[in-house]
Amino acid sequence: MIKYIDLRSDTVTKPSKAMREAIATAVVGDDVWGDDPTVNKLQEKCSALTGKPAALFVTSGCMANQLAIKCHTNPSEEIIAEWDSHIVKYEVAGPSFISGVQVMPLKGKSGVMHVDEVERHIRPDWYHYPKTSLVCIENTHNRAGGTIYPLDEIKKISSLTKKQNLKLHLDGARIFNASVETGISIEEYSSFVDSISFCFSKGLGAPIGSILCGDVDFITKAHKFRKILGGGMRQSGIIAAGALYALDNNIDRLKEDHQNARHFAEEISRLPFIEIDMDSVQTNIVIFITKKNASVIREKLEKKGLLLTNDGVNKMRVVFHLDVSIEQTEQAIEIFKSL
Ligand SMILES: Cc1ncc(COP(=O)(O)O)c(C=O)c1O
Repeated sequence: MIKYIDLRSDTVTKPSKAMREAIATAVVGDDVWGDDPTVNKLQEKCSALTGKPAALFVTSGCMANQLAIKCHTNPSEEIIAEWDSHIVKYEVAGPSFISGVQVMPLKGKSGVMHVDEVERHIRPDWYHYPKTSLVCIENTHNRAGGTIYPLDEIKKISSLTKKQNLKLHLDGARIFNASVETGISIEEYSSFVDSISFCFSKGLGAPIGSILCGDVDFITKAHKFRKILGGGMRQSGIIAAGALYALDNNIDRLKEDHQNARHFAEEISRLPFIEIDMDSVQTNIVIFITKKNASVIREKLEKKGLLLTNDGVNKMRVVFHLDVSIEQTEQAIEIFKSL
C-alpha cells in the first residue's frame, strides 16, 4: 500500500499519541449544564488568550462564523466580506439561510479588502437599502494562499467600523499561523475586532473544534443559537482536551510548516510547467498555476504517493501541517521534479 504524503489540507492531521492520551484522560461533565471542567478550562484559556471577556467552544469554524453573523445582525441587513473568503465561498449561503442577511462580497487583493472599498460599500441610510451591520475579515486568508492581513489594514477597518457603528468579525481559523509569522499576539489581533473565531482542527492538529470569542452579551446570545443549531455537546471535554493539548504544544511549531511551504514553493517554482507568486507564500499554504492541466498533474502525483488539490484546470494548492516532516517535504519536491 502506498504511504501518501497528504498535502490536501491542514485539516487532515491525526491526533498524536500524546494528544490521544490527553483526550483519553480528560475530566468531563455535561457541558449543556455548564459542568464540563475541560470545556470550561478551554473557554477560559481562549478568553485570556484573546483578551475577550467570554468564549464558546463550537463544533467547527463554519459554526463559529455563522454564530458570529447571527449574533451581530438582524434579518434583512447586509454584511461585507471578501468575495473569496470562506464565509462567502464555502459556507453554503449560511448568512442568508441562518441569519436572513445578504452578503456584499468585495474583491480584495491577496484576500485583503482595502478600507476605502469597505467604506464605499457601507449603505447610506435610505428606505430602499438594507442596513450594513457587519464586516468580516479572514486572517490568514485561505484561498489567497494563507496570506496575512496586515495589522495596519485591520486597524483602519476597525476605526471605520467603530465610526460607522458596525461590528467587525475576524475569521481567524488560521490566526496562529499569522501570529507566529508576524510576532503579533492573538490578543493584539483580537483587540481590533468585536469577535474572533479560530480553529483547533487545522494547523494546531486537534481532531475537532473551534472557538468563538467576544463580549459577554455576544457569547450569551451565541450560546443560545449554538443550542438551536444542535451544537450543545454534553461531555465535550473529550474533544476540548485535544484543543487544550494543541494550544499547549502545537503553536510554535507552525513555523516549521511555513519553512516547509517556502522551501517547497522555491524548489517547484523552478520547474518549467509551474508559476508561483512567491509574495503569496507567507504561511503554510502554497497556491500555484500550472501550464498543463492541473487534474492530470494531480492524478499523476497521486499515483506517485502525493495528495494535493486542484482548483479548476490550471491552479493547484498544497498545505503544510504537523503530519508533514521536512523529509516528506523533500520527497514531495522530488515527486514533482520526477514529472
Ligand atoms: C478561513 C476558514 N474559515 C473557516 C473554515 C471552516 O472551518 P470548518 O471546516 O471547521 O467548518 C475554514 C475551513 O477550511 C477556513 O479555511
